[in-house]
Amino acid sequence: MTAPGSRCAGGHPEPIARWQEAVEFIALHHREELDGADPAHRTEVIRAEIDATGTYRHTAEELTFGARVAWRNANRCIGRLYWRSLRVRDRRQVTRGADIAAESADHLREAAGRDGRIRPLITVFAPDEPGRPGPRIWNEQLIRYAGYEAPDGAVCGDPRNVGITALARRLGWPGGAGTPFDVLPLVVQGAGEEPRCYPLPADAVLEVAIEHPEYAWWAELGLRWHAVPALANMCLEIGGVCYPTAPFNGWYMGTEIGARNFADTDRYDLLPCIADRLGLDTGVDRSLWKDRALVELNRSVLHSFDRAGVTVTDHHTESRRFLAHMGREERHGRPVGADWSWIVPPISGSATPVFHRTYDPTERRPAYVHHAEAHARARGDLDG
Ligand code: ARG
Repeated sequence: MTAPGSRCAGGHPEPIARWQEAVEFIALHHREELDGADPAHRTEVIRAEIDATGTYRHTAEELTFGARVAWRNANRCIGRLYWRSLRVRDRRQVTRGADIAAESADHLREAAGRDGRIRPLITVFAPDEPGRPGPRIWNEQLIRYAGYEAPDGAVCGDPRNVGITALARRLGWPGGAGTPFDVLPLVVQGAGEEPRCYPLPADAVLEVAIEHPEYAWWAELGLRWHAVPALANMCLEIGGVCYPTAPFNGWYMGTEIGARNFADTDRYDLLPCIADRLGLDTGVDRSLWKDRALVELNRSVLHSFDRAGVTVTDHHTESRRFLAHMGREERHGRPVGADWSWIVPPISGSATPVFHRTYDPTERRPAYVHHAEAHARARGDLDG
């Protein structure tokens, strides 16, 4: 086995590596979905296809199963209980940048529904083929907020996205209104095309304005966040085939926004401002002003999503569900891999049951994989 992440990093795996991974995946599919039927016939067909073309085409059933199992295998994800409910939009015929942007907007509309009830969804675009790389979305998520860097280094917006914001400007994006929450355009590189900017239609971007259940002044902070977290630059690897453009989403766990996006010092860095407004003593660590501000920030996120009728989960519920997921998988004889440092929530870790145990870190495939070049592109690095 090659190290994770290196499969389709520099060109393509040798057909033989593809073959072995294909055999493993087809065997898994037959074992789990086809009552243990003999996979020999299917693997022979694939063998001939790989010999002729260097790759092979999944059936719609294989693609759906592969995308779901890739979620099941996501060791960093606490929300895997519902892996079977992932809906798959098969758009493998789509390769042009403009079409990918339009389909991505449709993805976001479908994921949020008309009612704000978020549905786990993936759209799979054209795979990489030998000598013919598939399309790429450069943004790390379909929805991200711009980060405008002033000459003195101060950032308006999300500092995480300074690089891609500058890149979008270089590609001709005129910039947004200049608020801390300007939605970035998609930067899409169609197969055989140069990257181009495609603004997201406003009706594709559901957002929640953040208020607090008790403090009326909270709304004046003008905070907001998008409803759908849709990872856009991870490669879906199934049976030796790389789908580099396969945006997928679940729903948010409140802490992702309240304890990380809003609170991390290299993100919106809101704890000092909020503690100040709460009248806490920010002069000494041991007043626990950061901890108290974190709790109120996280309450405000859960409260606001609930009021808006947008699906969000909390870390206590999700921790219980994750252990239920582990129990269920193990009863089916399927081992569960997990990464403790990602599974344990960023606040109140020890108050959740996922803290008090260890996990098997084994990585399995199919999988959603981060490639180094995808990270570089998301930083706006043109050479990425
Ligand atoms: N943590 C990321 C964010 O805050 C999203 C990652 C995926 N999260 C999810 N709930 N599916 O935007």
